[in-house]
Amino acid sequence: QTGGDAVTVHGDKPGAKYDRRLFGQFAEHLGTGIYGGLYVGTDSKIPNIKGFRRDVIDALKAIKVPVIRWPGGCFADEYHWREGIGPKAKRPVKVNTNWGGVTEDNAVGTNEFMDFTEVVGAEPYVSGNVGTAAPSEMAEWIEYMTSPTKSTIANQRRANGRDKPWNLPMFGIGNELWGCGGDMLPEYAADVTRRYATFLKVPAGQKLMKIASGANSADYNWTDVMMRKAGDKIDGIGVHYYTVPGPWEKKGAATGFDEESWARTLSKTLKMEELLTEHGKIMDKYDPAKRVSLLVDEWGTWYDVEPGTNPGFLYQQNSLRDAMVAALNFNIFARHADRVRGANIAQMVNVLQAMLLTDGAKMVKTPTYWAFDLYKDYQDATVLPVDVQSRWYNKDQWTMRAVSASAVRGTDGVVHVGLVNVDPNQAASVTVKLDGVSGTQVTGKLLTGDKMDAHNDFAAPDAIKPVAFTGATLAAGTLTVQVPAKAIVMLDIK
Ligand code: AHR
Repeated sequence: QTGGDAVTVHGDKPGAKYDRRLFGQFAEHLGTGIYGGLYVGTDSKIPNIKGFRRDVIDALKAIKVPVIRWPGGCFADEYHWREGIGPKAKRPVKVNTNWGGVTEDNAVGTNEFMDFTEVVGAEPYVSGNVGTAAPSEMAEWIEYMTSPTKSTIANQRRANGRDKPWNLPMFGIGNELWGCGGDMLPEYAADVTRRYATFLKVPAGQKLMKIASGANSADYNWTDVMMRKAGDKIDGIGVHYYTVPGPWEKKGAATGFDEESWARTLSKTLKMEELLTEHGKIMDKYDPAKRVSLLVDEWGTWYDVEPGTNPGFLYQQNSLRDAMVAALNFNIFARHADRVRGANIAQMVNVLQAMLLTDGAKMVKTPTYWAFDLYKDYQDATVLPVDVQSRWYNKDQWTMRAVSASAVRGTDGVVHVGLVNVDPNQAASVTVKLDGVSGTQVTGKLLTGDKMDAHNDFAAPDAIKPVAFTGATLAAGTLTVQVPAKAIVMLDIK
């Protein structure tokens, strides 16, 4: 145990709103992310609502999933929405060229996805096809989803079982236009973005956030060009950043790793801070009023696939390390909440850093799921700035502060403080000074594990989950908190 870690929460200097969309998810037609993981069809023995697994729906509702991005990813720029509507037997069967070359029967299309988001209570974030479809196709798709009129396209929606228009708050103008979305140069992508944005219209009374395809990680020139040339036509711009421990050819295993890999992974995820700072500075240049949102619309860990699984399916286990990655990013998002108003972890079920893993009728909640659960009261809360003084933790060349923190005041007045101790060997004794916070009672939850790669699997689905935390005391406006090694603590102060 060590002393000396100190956090000050400035409850008297409330900051930006912590947008609930920062807890968004990403569900792509990739591996078993949709088929099997989400959708089993209405004839399945697995309990379902309109073909979507009930266990998955219940789990997603419990963490209040606010937004789901669909249908890709790389899949989006080869997706033609008309192939996913109407009688299922008549929908064309295609090849999923991006992900394993498997067949895609289009059983989940617009009606299914939009209905699913309503059941979960999430907003849809639909990624358009810019790479291989015309602006007219995108305009018609939006008309199909949102038009209250009796146009032929709106009536087609009705014929397919949906009378009322859906609400479509977010639309992506392609995905990774610098790569799988068309291999465009930034100047060309900005022109294309302007062109498509012109034709994306929703009926009066609806508001559509038009989101430009953003940079790959630290490609600051992309953001600069997109903001300079197309900033006036968009409401948001993405950025994608994956935490990949090793080189692309040998990314590293999701479990069974050593402390060097632990430290390397967490150190790499902390790069998010620099990315949000630098992309934010560029946006400030063109949009000082911060009208345009920065959306981290793909993030999370990317490891080698589980041995024996299809390499194109990106199926990986998920451990305490992934929960730490999630919590560290939630703390980073708090510091950038004035500009960063959305994020979509990749991906929701069975793909990359998933919330849920399924195997036939079985489902497990991953440690990442539990990190989302711990932080769910941050949704739409007000950020309270924090100062953190912490000792360093290092393993080999990977050096970082042992303690990371953030704080918010919920709409109900409760103050939530999220603390992460990345040191896998030493507990942290943290004093948290609560300036301008009137609460006098503290309760908490703890997520940790016996090993760095503690995880849940189908044989032991509850090996790691949050427990009540009793290591915090509150006296005279100061919390004293004993945060165990490799742990996330969420405190509620009332
Ligand atoms: O999430 C997997 C893939 O990663 C997405 O399809 C793509 O946008 C990104 O490169």
